[in-house]
Amino acid sequence: MGYDKIYQYNFPTTIRFGVGASNELGDYLLKNAVSRPLVVTDKTVAQLDFFKEIIAGLNKKNISAEVFDDIHKNPVKSDVYRGAEVYDATNRNAIIGIGGGAALDVARAIALRINHREDLFKYDDLVGGDVYVTNDVPHFIAIPTTAGTGSEVGRSAIIADDETHQKKILFSPKLLAKIVFADPLLTMELPAYVTAATGMDALTHNMEAFLAKMPHPLCEGIALEGISLISHSLQQAVNNPDLESRSKMLIASMMGAIAFQKGLGVVHSLAHPLSSLLDTHHGLANAVNLPYGMEFNIAGFEHKFRRIARTLELKEETGKAVVEYLFDLNSKINIPHKLGDVGVRQEHIETLADLAVEDFAHPNNPKPVTKEDFKNLYSRAL
Ligand SMILES: NC(=O)c1ccc[n+]([C@@H]2O[C@H](COP(=O)([O-])OP(=O)(O)OC[C@H]3O[C@@H](n4cnc5c(N)ncnc54)[C@H](O)[C@@H]3O)[C@@H](O)[C@H]2O)c1
Ligand SMILES: [Fe+2]
Repeated sequence: MGYDKIYQYNFPTTIRFGVGASNELGDYLLKNAVSRPLVVTDKTVAQLDFFKEIIAGLNKKNISAEVFDDIHKNPVKSDVYRGAEVYDATNRNAIIGIGGGAALDVARAIALRINHREDLFKYDDLVGGDVYVTNDVPHFIAIPTTAGTGSEVGRSAIIADDETHQKKILFSPKLLAKIVFADPLLTMELPAYVTAATGMDALTHNMEAFLAKMPHPLCEGIALEGISLISHSLQQAVNNPDLESRSKMLIASMMGAIAFQKGLGVVHSLAHPLSSLLDTHHGLANAVNLPYGMEFNIAGFEHKFRRIARTLELKEETGKAVVEYLFDLNSKINIPHKLGDVGVRQEHIETLADLAVEDFAHPNNPKPVTKEDFKNLYSRAL
């Protein structure tokens, strides 16, 4: 690795992790003088019992929570603008995101919007917009209810353009949650197909982070342990969930997001265009593409695949065995092996490859990926 340069490593989030951790929210708010939070979630989570109980618990402590749940499955800019209007109109003084990656990203983007009123995409990290994030942001708290994106420990929000559906990244260290309440109980009722797709997103984060080219031994250690936890819990969490498998998945998803400050890779770049073009769920898009992307990465990186194989406790410590493991895992959790089964057609491939090559994730892939490579990978997976 390049020991001749200086790198920056950050691990600053306070995480309260464990059964019942979300019950601490009310006292935390009182202690921090937060009496009027905006609670950002999605319409499905807003109807779940645990969500209603959290809001009722806050009311009991005289904390008036305003709920905003009007968001898209792949969130767009207008969701953020509407949320910020509600924040202002109801005179809020903090933001709590409760939900999956979609709700947490919108919550974080609203936090940015409150004191940064230029066009939201002026702050797009890909065009250097992070330098404009100069003002304070409201007190922001994250409570994950899926075990996948790990967005709760991240510093970025992925928000798409309403018209083009292209995903932009809003990034700033200021967007880090002040505290995360990670409570596996909130994920107990997650449907099997959401558990599978989000869990594969977490696995993809850990694998891509481990392989990503930036030298970062801290993240590599975390990523391997994340892979191990997922290999011991994802099937159980999908097919016969219990508290232990839910807990392991929740911590492993946060580890994936912590590890991917090192970078992601080809799989995320294959996946993002599926969400933009066909509105495919982010985790599902990663899950289907993961074995193909990993196969692409083997040559030249056999030593790293040996370590992944060892972590997965495979008989053969090779990249090929890792790829076989991934196909097999997808079968066991009912994820299709082919893109055709998630609505991709031959005529989409050119556009998908155009979008993929523009994507932000693959420049950190251990080896370069060209448009031709993307076309070949999509064709292979079709
Ligand atoms: N900020 C980041 O670092 C980052 C990283 C990866 C992905 N993302 C973004 O995250 C989003 C995907 O997030 P996700 O995979 O968590 O999916 P999601 O937020 O879309 O949630 C998936 C589904 O599960 C439901 N749900 C959530 N919690 C539930 C619960 N406890 N019980 C029952 N149902 C529940 C939701 O209503 C939704 O229908 C995408 O928009 C993606 O771009 C962000
Ligand atoms: Fe992801």
